[in-house]
Formats: sequence, C-alpha cells, structure tokens
Amino acid sequence: MLLLENKGAIVTGASTLIGAAVARALVGQGAKVVLADVDADKGEKLAGELGGKAVFVKTDVCADEQIDGAVASAMKFCGRIDVLVNIAAAYVDNGPASPREDWLKSFDINLFGAVMFLRAVRPHMAAVGGGAVVNFGSTSAHVAQAGRWTYPATKAAMLQFTRSAALDLAADGIRVNAVSPGWTWSGILDLISGGDLEKTNRVAAPFHMLKRVATPEEVANAVTFLCTPQSSFITGANLPVDGGYSAMGPEQMLSPIAQLMG
Ligand SMILES: NC(=O)c1ccc[n+]([C@@H]2O[C@H](COP(=O)([O-])OP(=O)(O)OC[C@H]3O[C@@H](n4cnc5c(N)ncnc54)[C@H](O)[C@@H]3O)[C@@H](O)[C@H]2O)c1
Repeated sequence: MLLLENKGAIVTGASTLIGAAVARALVGQGAKVVLADVDADKGEKLAGELGGKAVFVKTDVCADEQIDGAVASAMKFCGRIDVLVNIAAAYVDNGPASPREDWLKSFDINLFGAVMFLRAVRPHMAAVGGGAVVNFGSTSAHVAQAGRWTYPATKAAMLQFTRSAALDLAADGIRVNAVSPGWTWSGILDLISGGDLEKTNRVAAPFHMLKRVATPEEVANAVTFLCTPQSSFITGANLPVDGGYSAMGPEQMLSPIAQLMG
C-alpha cells in the first residue's frame, strides 16, 4: 500500500541530488509533487523524469509572491497540499569575514524561505485536516566548524523554528519535524572533491561512525518517513541522518585510554 496516495507535496531545493531523491521517494509513495527551486534546468529535467507525477515551478524562496505562486500551482496540480519539505539552502559563508549582506542572504534563503513557505501552505493543510512539514537542519547546527559562521547559525535557527512551529500548528493537525544530515553525496561534495566519492568517504570516515557519507536516498528515506502516517506521533523532533556523527564525542573512534596505558 502506498503511504502518500493522492497526497500533494511541495519540495523546495528540489533541483539538488538530495531534493531529487526526496521528490522521487514521495512520488514512489503515490504523492504528486511540486518541485520548487531557482535552478530551472535541473528542475525541469527532474519533472520530465517523474512524468505526470511532478511539475517544476521556478521559485525563489526569498520572494513571497513566488512562494504564493508555487502554492497556487500546487493546489492546481495536486488539488491539495499535505506535505512541505524545505530543502533550499545556500552556503553563503565567509566565517568571521562575513559581511551583514551575507548574514541577511544566508538567513533569507536558509530560514526565512522555509518560514514563509510554511505560512503560505498552512491554511491549505489545515483545510484537509493537517499535514507534515520537514525542515532541513544539519550536523552544522550543533557544533563549531572552522571558518563557518552563517550557515551553521541558520541551521541551528531552523531547528528552533521547527520546535516553535510544531507547537503552534499542532492544533491544525500539522506536524513539523527536521532532519539533520551528516555529509551527504551532493552537488557541493561532488564539486569540491572533483567527483571523487571514494576520497570523500575517506575524508568523512573519522567523524562518521559508519565511515562514509550518506547517499541522497538515505536522507530521502528519513524525510519520507516523517511525511507519512508512520510518524504520526512525531512532531517538533530533529532526526539525525548522519551515520553517527552527532553521537560521537571529541575522542572520535580513537582510544585515548589505551594510548595512555600503552
Ligand atoms: N550536502 C551535505 O552534505 C549536507 C549536509 C547537511 C545538510 N545539508 C542540507 O541539505 C540540503 C541540500 O544540500 P545540498 O548540499 O544538496 O545543497 P546545494 O547547494 O547543492 O543545493 C541547494 C539548492 O537550493 C536551491 N536554491 C538556492 N537558493 C535558492 C532560492 N533563493 N530559492 C529557491 N531555491 C534555491 C539551489 O538552486 C539548489 O538546488 C540543504 O538544506 C543543506 O543545508 C546538506
């Protein structure tokens, strides 16, 4: 039995590898999906791949009228909105050197876009008795990372927003959760590693218990779980999808006691 049969979904940042995997997984459970992103090339290609089950709507999450347009398209295409997945993000981060402009842009895309999207879908979800929202956090929300100031702050704020929204929208039957991926094979890792997954896994191994990066599908599976009735009593939660990254302490997988005794 499909868990999202005849449901309507919006996925922002759908033009990414992670976004595409999420859209495929939602379609695989029977949903119709609006792919909302600024990258039309990749978005249109994905919509083509997903046939009549998905449509691309070019949407800048920093522009309220474009958000309203995407929501109107979703109502037209799906007839209802049950699911919102907020993936769109930008790595606008120059650490301590980041000017105000970068802070504003970072928060506008990574946090405010998700907030405004949720605001726009809320009445439509409430009208069908509720819905499920999944926000994208990150392991970066929890720890200090060298040279990174703006992005981790937006992701930490996203997790707090998730808790606040979960509380206030529960009365509408809307569940709001987050996933916090660890390193995931994505456009950015593909780019900076020169397309070398093996090297990426090698670099990631010391700080992921499972000694590799996630696949986009592994992240999509967790997101899909939070979108379906299988997670019906989960709201306000953050689900790490990080191969053990966040459970590991500063000692990593080393054994300092053994070193001391040696
Ligand atoms: N890649 C990782 O290892 C990793 C780890 C933890 C969390 N995440 C999170 O997963 C998500 C996807 O990450 P990614 O690495 O694939 O990101 P990415 O930079 O490859 O993609 C971001 C997407 O957002 C879209 N986008 C940017 N600005 C936009 C705007 N104003 N309006 C609409 N869309 C816009 C881009 O076109 C792109 O498709 C992000 O939320 C990121 O924070 C990624």
